[in-house]
Amino acid sequence: RELIVFDSIDSTNTYGKNNADHLMDGTIILSEEQLAGRGRRGKDWSSPKGTGIWMSMVLKPDIPPTEGVKTTQIAAAAVCKAIRDLTGLDALIKWPNDIVVNGRKVCGILTEMAGQLNKIDYIVVGIGINVNNTEFPEGISAVATSLQIEYGKKIDRKELIVRIIKNFEALYHSYIENLNLTEVVAIVRDYSAVIGKEIKVIHGTSERIVTVHDIDEEGFLIVESGDGKREVIFSGEVSI
Ligand code: BTN
Repeated sequence: RELIVFDSIDSTNTYGKNNADHLMDGTIILSEEQLAGRGRRGKDWSSPKGTGIWMSMVLKPDIPPTEGVKTTQIAAAAVCKAIRDLTGLDALIKWPNDIVVNGRKVCGILTEMAGQLNKIDYIVVGIGINVNNTEFPEGISAVATSLQIEYGKKIDRKELIVRIIKNFEALYHSYIENLNLTEVVAIVRDYSAVIGKEIKVIHGTSERIVTVHDIDEEGFLIVESGDGKREVIFSGEVSI
């Protein structure tokens, strides 16, 4: 496996995308800082030097493109479990992309995919974790936190990275080999921040309030609207 480590870069996801053609399946890109870290929905992702884990994985699985979104869930499960095992913190997954501790965000995942209708060229799974950050830019300080802030002590980033990669490899392989998502869904369900809660589902410019009933065996959200109708949500932004 290939590991590429930068001291500084614009964005590990951008690097992964721009170089995907000649990077091996499974390549991991890490940087001590990102000068133009990207979040979802066109937002910036603050990535100061030496504080967090800013990493991307380049994957080239031979699975239908519709399956590709599940790598986000696999990554969320891998990160959540690693944080819990290493720190004992009650980390929860805010479906589909965020990990929260005490209601504040410690990790975001940005999955970017390219390919044709029937074939994935590559998936870049970007993981940003606020590990030893002690301050945040204005605007996100009310909703963001770091593991150090919540745990009360500095955390060894290397140890966390190793656990995340080990967890991800195990979950990803059983998924790729048998399209088996059982363990991932078990983790996503057990540590869900949204099951039983009212959430706001944001799709483009439309928003509505629904209650989360469960997460199905494919990792999708089963929600109930006011009139008791159930439906499955495959993607979107969720706010509690
Ligand atoms: C989000 O919650 O909006 C997703 C944030 C994803 C941030 C990570 S940090 C490593 C990788 N490189 C980027 O530019 N973004 C992702």
